[in-house]
Amino acid sequence: MLIVLCAAGGCHRTAEELSPPPVPEATRRFAGVSITYYGDSHELGRTLERSLIQRFEQDTGIRVNLVPRPESTTETYVTYDRQFKAAEAEVDVYLIDLIWPAAFAPYLLDLTPTLATEARNHLAMCRESDTVGGRLVAMPYFLDLGLLYYRKDLLEQHGYARPPVTWEQLEAMARDIQSGERSGGRDLWGFIWQGLAYEGLTCNALEWQESHGGGGLIDPRTGQVSVDDPRAIAAFRRAAGWIGTITPPAVISYDEPESLDRFREGGAVFMRNWAYVHAGLEAADSPIRGKVGVAGLPAAAGHRSVSVMGGWQLGVSRRSRHPEAAVAFVRYLTSPEVQAWRAREGSYLPTVQKLWDDPGLRSDLPLLAAVAPQLPNMIQRPSGRVGPRYNAFSTYYYEGVEAILEGEAAGMIAARMQRDMVRLLAWPESSVRTP
Ligand code: GLC
Repeated sequence: MLIVLCAAGGCHRTAEELSPPPVPEATRRFAGVSITYYGDSHELGRTLERSLIQRFEQDTGIRVNLVPRPESTTETYVTYDRQFKAAEAEVDVYLIDLIWPAAFAPYLLDLTPTLATEARNHLAMCRESDTVGGRLVAMPYFLDLGLLYYRKDLLEQHGYARPPVTWEQLEAMARDIQSGERSGGRDLWGFIWQGLAYEGLTCNALEWQESHGGGGLIDPRTGQVSVDDPRAIAAFRRAAGWIGTITPPAVISYDEPESLDRFREGGAVFMRNWAYVHAGLEAADSPIRGKVGVAGLPAAAGHRSVSVMGGWQLGVSRRSRHPEAAVAFVRYLTSPEVQAWRAREGSYLPTVQKLWDDPGLRSDLPLLAAVAPQLPNMIQRPSGRVGPRYNAFSTYYYEGVEAILEGEAAGMIAARMQRDMVRLLAWPESSVRTP
């Protein structure tokens, strides 16, 4: 699928220079109360949240202490897990990855009595992943999906009219453009992605695997762990083969911000990353502003393009001493007004259904109309099904993929991953520790 973009919102302004929407039907009933929020760590996301908090404080009199979460999803999980299991009630509202509601449900307030009506306005797939055992444990905040970013200018200069549809095409284009540019003295790589051993690598590897027909982590057709599969192994081998040829060896230390920085400074032709990084690429200070195209991720010849579904939610701690104030904050941040504003300012994809068809928003953020055709190609990690064991399950997966990327035999490692993952699922949930 080809996605053409003209412009997008987002530039590096300070929280004070931004004008977030007022709090709808604001009340000062909880004025003077102080809550703590574990929020976004992405640079632009943090600025937007600081600005939203200023507006919320002004309209409600509630004070919000913002603590940015660790940058890595996996580190954030470990931090929250520790906090939830500790006795103190220090944090009221948590920014929660869409793969965590099943694991953290016991520690989160049921929002059904307060936000069920609002929740109905959100995309069913997001609402469903936030509902655990009939309890609405979080509210959808933004949607994310894996995308292929490419340098329109370089593709054109090297005679390519369209971005690649297959991995074979991506490899050929990456090799060609990389060697052409290097012979002109430029330091350039073909394709960068998130190769660090953490949840981001699980997302990348799952896209490689499924786009080679290798099933999901748990194959939806058979319900079985599907890693020791010849097509999955072929996909892992292919990715290992990119390293040192079209992908820099340093990719095994790249997370989302690191790969974004490399791409933004002009270091690569193609990048796999999430939708929310788009605003940073088109910001006023971006060296490649106006030169970036976005497309669905390639697939192996004969297979379909897939994108891992990502996204973040807001949950209220069951131990919060100020649940009403915390819910008021969540209601504001997840409102259609705030979601539209965050989409314009930061390319955060909305979860409020009607915003996807809003002509004004579609024209301000062409990314929206552009990624809409890719939504049916989204695939989910099996976090709902695996429940509290998901983090350990994913750790076996990304650690195995890491070993393959570092040169170990793919077939042998895939067999080991499969064995460990199957064994993990056979254990009672209460005995699970991250490996
Ligand atoms: C993005 C996605 C999230 C995913 C994470 C992996 O933040 O939104 O769902 O788990 O990346 O690093």
